[in-house]
Amino acid sequence: MTEIRNIVILTGAGVSAESGIDTFRSAGGLWEQHRVEDVATPEAFARDPELVLRFYDMRRARIQEVQPNAAHQALARLDAEWKGGLLIITQNVDDLHERAGAGRLLHMHGEHLNAWCLACDGRHRWYGTLLDRPSCPTCGVPGQMRPDIVWFGEMPYRMNEIYAALNRADLFVSIGTSGAVYPAAGFVRDAREQGVRTLELNLEPSQGSHWFDEARHGPASEVVPEWVDELLRQQSG
Ligand code: APR
Repeated sequence: MTEIRNIVILTGAGVSAESGIDTFRSAGGLWEQHRVEDVATPEAFARDPELVLRFYDMRRARIQEVQPNAAHQALARLDAEWKGGLLIITQNVDDLHERAGAGRLLHMHGEHLNAWCLACDGRHRWYGTLLDRPSCPTCGVPGQMRPDIVWFGEMPYRMNEIYAALNRADLFVSIGTSGAVYPAAGFVRDAREQGVRTLELNLEPSQGSHWFDEARHGPASEVVPEWVDELLRQQSG
C-alpha cells in the first residue's frame, strides 16, 4: 500500500446533519420544502429578491443555533495532528468545521456568514439579516448585498486550488455527500484517474459509491471519528 502523505477530504450536508442542519435531498430535506429554482439561482434573486433573502436569512440564523458534532471535531483533530498535507473541501455553507477548529478548509459553495456586495465586489462577515437591503460597509451603496453562496449555474470557488490538491493527493475521502451535484460529484473520478486511493464515508451508498475503492456506511458522528483514530494510529506507527 502506498504511504499516505497528502489527504483531500470532500464534505457535504451529511456531516452537519447530526448537528440539526437539514440536508438537501433526504426525505423532508431542504430542497423538498423549496424548489431550488425558486431560491438558489441568480434568476430567482432577480425575480424575487425578498423570497431569496428571507430564505437565506432563515438559514443564516439556523446555523448560529447549532453546534459542531463528533464528525466535525474528529476532522479538526485530524487537521491538528496530521503531519502530511490535508485539505478539507466543504460543499457546506455553515461554519461548523471552523467552530470545531479545522483550519485547512475551503468553502467551494460559499458561506452563510458572508455577504457579497454587487456594487463593489466586497465580501463581509455577516450574522444578521440581508432582507432589509443594508448598505455595503465598504462602498456604502444600499440594496446591493447578496448572500455569498454559490447558486446553481454559478461557478464554485477556488477550483484551481481544488484540482491542484487532488493532483497531489494520495487519498481522497468523500464524507456525507450524495454525489448528486457537479463538479464536486466528479472529484472521485478525477482522483481515480490520478491513481489516488478513494474512500467514501456516508450514511448509505451515494450516487457515486461504485467509483470508490472502499466505502464505510453509517452516521458521520460514528464512522468519521473511527476512521480518524485509525489514520492517526497508523501515523504514530
Ligand atoms: N451521516 C453521514 N451521512 C449522512 C447523514 C449522517 N448522519 N445524514 C445524511 N447523510 C448523507 C445522505 O445519505 C446523503 O448522501 O449525506 C448526503 C447528503 O446529500 P445531499 O442532501 O444531496 O447534500 P450534499 O451532497 O451536500 O449536496 C451537495 O447540492 O444542493 C446543492 O449546494 C448544495 O452543497 C450542496 C450540494
